[in-house]
Amino acid sequence: MKAITTTGWGLNARLTLTETEAPQRLGAEDVLVQVHAASVNPKDWKLNYHLAVAATPLGTRRLPPLFGDDLAGVVIAKGRKVRHFEIGDAVYGMDMRLRTASLAEQARISQHRVAKMPANLSFNEAASLPLAALTALQGLRKGGARAGKSVLIIGASGGVGTLAVQIAKHLGLHVTGVCSTRNLDFVRALGADALIDYTRGDYRQSAGQFDIVFDVTSYETPLTCAALLGRDGHFISTGGQGVSMFATPLYRLAGKKADTVVVESYRQDLDTLAAMVEDGVLKPIIDSVYPLADSEAAYERNRSGRCRGKVVIEVMP
Ligand SMILES: NC(=O)c1ccc[n+]([C@@H]2O[C@H](COP(=O)([O-])OP(=O)(O)OC[C@H]3O[C@@H](n4cnc5c(N)ncnc54)[C@H](OP(=O)(O)O)[C@@H]3O)[C@@H](O)[C@H]2O)c1
Repeated sequence: MKAITTTGWGLNARLTLTETEAPQRLGAEDVLVQVHAASVNPKDWKLNYHLAVAATPLGTRRLPPLFGDDLAGVVIAKGRKVRHFEIGDAVYGMDMRLRTASLAEQARISQHRVAKMPANLSFNEAASLPLAALTALQGLRKGGARAGKSVLIIGASGGVGTLAVQIAKHLGLHVTGVCSTRNLDFVRALGADALIDYTRGDYRQSAGQFDIVFDVTSYETPLTCAALLGRDGHFISTGGQGVSMFATPLYRLAGKKADTVVVESYRQDLDTLAAMVEDGVLKPIIDSVYPLADSEAAYERNRSGRCRGKVVIEVMP
């Protein structure tokens, strides 16, 4: 099968289209998916280190190909204990811990990490959702999101942020989005009640107080956002950057509410998201689409840090 493999390590590894062996053995709980589309997440290139690969449990490493977590496609084979899916089902999902390796014509994934694809989406649209939408849902949940609360979403125009804005609105929160000038109308159209333009000065001391501050950029810490947190306010980070990774648990030790969301793929959550999509309250936001052979350019686009929504890789046009 055709698949993308890496020819190096680190942030700027080259991605090459290669002819490689399709996944051979299926675990009892695995399905084999004919991948139609995948999508790009910053985690893919941020974790392309020997260390990250070494941390993947022995016996579960799926290299090559290395890249690609999100997938949407059709089940073409299944393990003997797979009860939730039939051959021919359209599914979407991801397995971040084991690395889905979805930049390939076929990928093997546990039945617990995929769900039936929302009926009203194309494969490209469905592939844009799993990792980012699960992060948005699980981050808001961790922050205690519920109707009537207020949330500040920092990074509202990106892969996770565009979905967090929509999910928070659907849950009945008052949503303030932080984005740059060029994205103000775009984030408003997603449903944000109020907007802050981060290019027009430091809003962190003057923007008021919120029940939840969801820092999707992971540039902030509970300390830099202290003035934004109301009494009992909850700081949630996506946690990728060094300082926030350490500051958040320290802040929690001081008795404050601060958490990092570490996304996990559960079929139940994917079902919840699919229902939101089918009800018309959650829409995938696609920044751009690249063919599999141009995965390198797709990653370059994602590394720019300027995406509006998600970068999709079309594996099977
Ligand atoms: N912990 C987890 O489980 C988990 C899961 C998913 C993602 N993450 C992490 O979460 C972060 C965001 O992921 P993503 O997929 O949403 O990234 P992304 O799509 O690359 O984010 C790009 C967006 O961020 C906006 N942005 C950049 N600087 C900003 C700032 N200072 N304030 C507000 N917005 C800003 C950009 O808008 P402008 O162009 O207008 O600046 C752009 O729209 C990444 O670090 C990722 O690794 C962690």
